[in-house]
Amino acid sequence: MSESIIQIQHLNKTFGEGPTAVHALEDINLDIRAGEIFGIIGLSGAGKSTLVRCMNLLERPTSGSVIVNGQEITKLKDKDLRKARQSISMIFQSFNLLMQRSALDNICFPLELIGVKRAEAVKRARELLKIVGLEERENAYPAQMSGGQKQRVAIARALATNPKVLLCDEATSALDPTTTLSILALLKELNQTLGVTVVVITHQMNVIEEICHRVAILDSGVVAEQGDVAEIFSNPQTDIGRRLVYPNGVQIDHLPASRVIRIAFNGGSSYEPLIASLAIDCGVKVNILGADTRNIDGKAFGTMLLGLPQDDMEATRALRYIQAQPDITVEEVPNHA
Ligand SMILES: Nc1ncnc2c1ncn2[C@@H]1O[C@H](COP(=O)(O)OP(=O)(O)O)[C@@H](O)[C@H]1O
Ligand SMILES: [Mg+2]
Repeated sequence: MSESIIQIQHLNKTFGEGPTAVHALEDINLDIRAGEIFGIIGLSGAGKSTLVRCMNLLERPTSGSVIVNGQEITKLKDKDLRKARQSISMIFQSFNLLMQRSALDNICFPLELIGVKRAEAVKRARELLKIVGLEERENAYPAQMSGGQKQRVAIARALATNPKVLLCDEATSALDPTTTLSILALLKELNQTLGVTVVVITHQMNVIEEICHRVAILDSGVVAEQGDVAEIFSNPQTDIGRRLVYPNGVQIDHLPASRVIRIAFNGGSSYEPLIASLAIDCGVKVNILGADTRNIDGKAFGTMLLGLPQDDMEATRALRYIQAQPDITVEEVPNHA
């Protein structure tokens, strides 16, 4: 999982000109690795759709380069570009199925476009229907299917040409939570069984939490931070990161006047044993002033604010004890009073 499949270098996208120009993307640099599930998260209007559309040149970048599979596609002419695009497929929030075609014929459509014979296309479409769990519904029309089923057909259609990359722009945003989970499980399975690289665009943190290996946070057209999901989750470095990861965030106003520390759990054990052992091992009682922790794969991530005792020696003892714990980072919150 080390080789890169999509590299974005110094990419800029500006819509319009002059004083009304919109700088949708500014100096974006990303390296998406073959075989991973990469998430791009941001608030509405952050530039996510524009960025993902630049990955297959549905949108032409104003400057910068997009390298797919070692090929700088921003330099390709029409014919070669069409060929390169076959290795990148896309699914959308609104499914974008052809309403006048059955599930089977929707999946056959991209194969028809590249001249695959009918019998062969049908065979491939049936295989794909099976993979997405819809073999019983090949004759159903989009109007007769649920949102989850429509997205499954769209996924099957996207996979018809054996792409290396599947771009998903808010693919679960129109679905209820249960259906969202089933579609995410399908994407994860396709990633594992077919080895397809998946790029997930979303405004929902739980989507990232559910399936992504790495994530980039986009804020007003700029990558605010990127890294392993576990790292970003345990200790977001930017305001926007904290806002997305902990929407009910730990507030640091209204704190009492003793020393306050922020600890970040980086995937070690859960937090209760720490607070308990502080009391038992050091005889120090700390106040939990705020906590926003979550479990990923049974490991604790997140931050907690602790008020240390007024007594300086006790406070120092507690601090040293916490500093000695593995998988926990600690910092003093300055000037909170
Ligand atoms: N075709 C366009 N023309 C002008 N402005 C656009 C166009 N597409 C997107 N934008 C602007 O670019 C910014 C990013 O939009 P978008 O990529 O759709 O964000 P997101 O998908 O994160 O909600 C927004 O300010 C949007 O209004
Ligand atoms: Mg969008």
